[in-house]
Amino acid sequence: MMERELERRAALVSGAIEQLLPIVHPRGLYEASRHLVDSGGKRLRPSMLLLAAEAVGGEATLLAPAAVSIELIHNFTLIHDDIMDNADVRRGRPAVHKIWGESGAILAGDTLYSKAFQVLGMTPVQPELILGAMNVLSRTCTDICEGQWLDIEFESRERVSENEYMEMIEKKTGVLYGASASMGAILAGGSPQVAAALDEFGRLTGMGFQLQDDVIDLTASVTVSGKRQGGDLVEGKKTLIMINAFAKGINVEAFGKRDATPEEIQKGILQLEECGSIDYARSRAEEMVAKGKRALGVLPDSKARALMLEMADYMIRRGH
Ligand code: IPE
Ligand code: IPE
Ligand code: MG
Ligand code: MG
Ligand code: MG
Repeated sequence: MMERELERRAALVSGAIEQLLPIVHPRGLYEASRHLVDSGGKRLRPSMLLLAAEAVGGEATLLAPAAVSIELIHNFTLIHDDIMDNADVRRGRPAVHKIWGESGAILAGDTLYSKAFQVLGMTPVQPELILGAMNVLSRTCTDICEGQWLDIEFESRERVSENEYMEMIEKKTGVLYGASASMGAILAGGSPQVAAALDEFGRLTGMGFQLQDDVIDLTASVTVSGKRQGGDLVEGKKTLIMINAFAKGINVEAFGKRDATPEEIQKGILQLEECGSIDYARSRAEEMVAKGKRALGVLPDSKARALMLEMADYMIRRGH
């Protein structure tokens, strides 16, 4: 039932994007910008924004532009992330840089990034509320850059601690979920206390979401996830799974080996499964989500609140 509720909100967001991001001159730039946006995606972050607004008693349909702004920021980060991660496939289609080159992908990402703020400004609520939301969104984008910087820096570091990994995923992924939930509350007129609690909810469940993303990287085929299986492994990403496997003295041959054969990758995945490191990440994801859900205690009982709790579980139960 929650899946259907999410699909309904995803459809609202997709329809609004159609109107808010038209393909104009020079068409190539806008086609490149729309390529990933139009390739689907779960639209979880804008759905969280809409649910948070409903949960504080707001009229969610008014907030469609704000929801779109969050999805545009997310897509901007994905386009640039695929350049950084040497990823060729995203949402089951060629990555933007594979079609339009790196310059094209950088510009397509920048276009989505700047349009996001313009679109947020079109939200039909009081200007003070929009200003508050813009503050949150701009700070969040800086945090994502910090997180992505750490992600890349860790690739060439000998040792990365669990705490360092947690800081990295909070910044690269947690904060955007935190912003989604708190912006929904702010734009719906919620108090600063409620906005802070919703930020906490989004941030912690978002960290659980990233842990599950790391699990999916290893366990799901490209036809299921739309991304290359074992991509993190061959790129040499210091995921919690790898940090845990290193601590156990496991040596994975394909790690950091961009030209690893499919057999070497499959062997590595099997090793990580058998040594319990994938389950370890799963259990940490459950902890993060359980903690995040407790932050929703500040909200009165409502259908939207119940859906947010269900969504939190879905964020780590999902297979893609
Ligand atoms: C992928 O996010 C990027 C991460 C932060 C792990 P999603 O898994 O939400 O990607 P889409 O939007 O559904 O494609
Ligand atoms: C993505 O982390 C974080 C951001 C895009 C900010 P990943 O690099 O793990 O995301 P995927 O797996 O490529 O979607
Ligand atoms: Mg990345
Ligand atoms: Mg990536
Ligand atoms: Mg990933």
